[in-house]
Amino acid sequence: MGLHEQIEALAQVDSEHPGGGLVREVYTPEYGEAVRFVSDRMREAGLEVREDSVGNLFGLWPGVSPELPRVLTGSHFDTTLNAGKYDGVLGVLGAIEAIRQLKADGFSPARSIEVVGFAGEEPRFGSGCIGSRAMAGTLSRSDLDRMADRNGITVAQAMRTSGLDPGRLGEARIDPATIAAQVELHIEQGAVLEHEGIRVGVVERIAAPHDLRVVITGVARHSGSTPMGLRRDALTGASEVVLEVERLARESPSGSTVGTVGVLHVAPGAVNVIPGEVVLEIDIRDSDLAARTAVVEATLAKLDSLAVERSLSVEVATITQDTPAECDPRIVGAVRAACEAIGTPYLTMTSGAYHDSMVLAGAGVPIGMIFVPSRDGISHHPDEFTAPDELDLGVAVLAGALRRLAV
Ligand code: HGY
Ligand code: MN
Ligand code: MN
Repeated sequence: MGLHEQIEALAQVDSEHPGGGLVREVYTPEYGEAVRFVSDRMREAGLEVREDSVGNLFGLWPGVSPELPRVLTGSHFDTTLNAGKYDGVLGVLGAIEAIRQLKADGFSPARSIEVVGFAGEEPRFGSGCIGSRAMAGTLSRSDLDRMADRNGITVAQAMRTSGLDPGRLGEARIDPATIAAQVELHIEQGAVLEHEGIRVGVVERIAAPHDLRVVITGVARHSGSTPMGLRRDALTGASEVVLEVERLARESPSGSTVGTVGVLHVAPGAVNVIPGEVVLEIDIRDSDLAARTAVVEATLAKLDSLAVERSLSVEVATITQDTPAECDPRIVGAVRAACEAIGTPYLTMTSGAYHDSMVLAGAGVPIGMIFVPSRDGISHHPDEFTAPDELDLGVAVLAGALRRLAV
């Protein structure tokens, strides 16, 4: 089964869910089926397969000098809601395919090369990158009991249903000195490459999120008998915040700040009751940390003034707050050299999406990323698409980079 067929086959491993797209969240039965599928592909490529204590999946190609720091390459194969079939998956199945090609070419790596499928990159539990954070040592045992999904299931509970012991979290931690590089092949999830007519992106930095969970409480009252001047409407207050986040991001001096309110719950949710409580989740990102900080602080100031002006109570909690990551010049150079050896043009760019590589960079692992185009910039949607020849080109660039990094 070739790479394209593997991607199509994995896309059939889906949960029973309302609405469109793929939903294959970490620590679910369908995710377990995907782990078995990817493990089989790793074994077919002659890799030594193992899972760590939080469900990260690894496939090792031992090098001639296995004592040297190894080269890691991989991404994730869990999905967000209403997802497409390439996000993350290309970086795992494509890495296995790159190794298969290197073996077929008779290449023998000095350093071991290890494919990784990180567990829980998508934010089922509010913050994403569960597996890579465990490897980085930035996830605590109490986080596993605190972080919960939209149904109130905690990470620890979900891990147990997958046969994993949350108490063994610490065993997943790695020594960054044992990793020479982490190289991630990924779809761009934006439209820059397509717009520029270039088919490969060489990532030099990764923007990072600062996400907030806000609970705005007013007073639920009869919508018919409560005069407008006597209301403490939580939803009209929240609406001011939603538009302010958009305005602040649009007007941010960096030009690269993005702000989104992707979750909004209104209670009690009846047409004839003034909303008494609204929960919203805000995602603010930038590769420019100062610009992101300014937007977050202005958003918090808006929430404070809103509380006073509209007599509402406002509670704010940080869901995640990551640091933008710089890619390692040596790895960027290897990716560029791979592109030049193939004769394919490339665009040096920033990743607006976050990735597990961002988390490992925060732990001191040198990282690099390779992008291939997303048609119409669509991602996190069933219409996500990358042409087969672009998938193959990404794999060829990855193989060239691995060949240069595993010496
Ligand atoms: O949200 C992100 O940037 C990633 O796709 N999980
Ligand atoms: Mn994603
Ligand atoms: Mn992804």
